Amino acid sequence: MSATFIFLITASLYSSSAELITDSMSRLQKYDLKIVPPANIQATKNVRSLSHCAAICNRNKQSCLSIQYQAEASLCRLVSVRLNDEEVLEEPGSSGWKYYERNMECFDWHIFNGHAYQLDITTRNFTSAQKFCASLLPTSHVIEIESNAENNWLLELATRYCNVKSEIWINLYDSFNTQPYTWLESGQSAVYTNWAPDSPSDFEEKCGTFSSSAGGTWNDVVCELLAPVVCERDL
Ligand SMILES: *[C@@H]1O[C@H](CO)[C@@H](O)[C@H](O)[C@H]1NC(C)=O
Repeated sequence: MSATFIFLITASLYSSSAELITDSMSRLQKYDLKIVPPANIQATKNVRSLSHCAAICNRNKQSCLSIQYQAEASLCRLVSVRLNDEEVLEEPGSSGWKYYERNMECFDWHIFNGHAYQLDITTRNFTSAQKFCASLLPTSHVIEIESNAENNWLLELATRYCNVKSEIWINLYDSFNTQPYTWLESGQSAVYTNWAPDSPSDFEEKCGTFSSSAGGTWNDVVCELLAPVVCERDL
């Protein structure tokens, strides 16, 4: 093994450990200068170190999705959202805050727009999927999708965090396979829909699925189909 090769290994180990503070959180440098909306700062704490700040966030998984850390003052902000490209930028060099995000796991509860969602990759028929969601603590129900924003969110959850590309149960049912279908939890007719062009199609297919392999369009399927489910509950 040449000296150059050993040097390259050492250099790459050093550079990756500089960015990855724990195996559950990583730095997103491009958001260092973003201004976090005050309503999304859950708490500001004096901490011993960056990993102390990360540990506090990891103990509060329901409410802490990211942190900002200010090394000179040893200050830690617990943030309830993940920043995105739309937040306002500060003047470069004005603050010294560094931004880190929790690496979300598929089986975490994921928060979006006042609701919590959890995808379970075990495949079940529709009745078993409903029972599974009802058995969770806090209790939940199979996801009901009321807007395009929520449909896009489900696609992100399935593909970005869970790597699921298949049919996924949603809480839609119709005994006659005519439109409109009904959301079983709320009892409301589905106003927002995202049916695939040829769906719903078949009289025997009384249940609805979301297809993460087809851009988040919906299908009518037989209720005995085995598919993963997304459970939803209010916060
Ligand atoms: C759904 O799955 C459960 C558990 O495997 C089974 O007991 C039940 O008969 C199935 N129901 C239908 C309608 O297929």
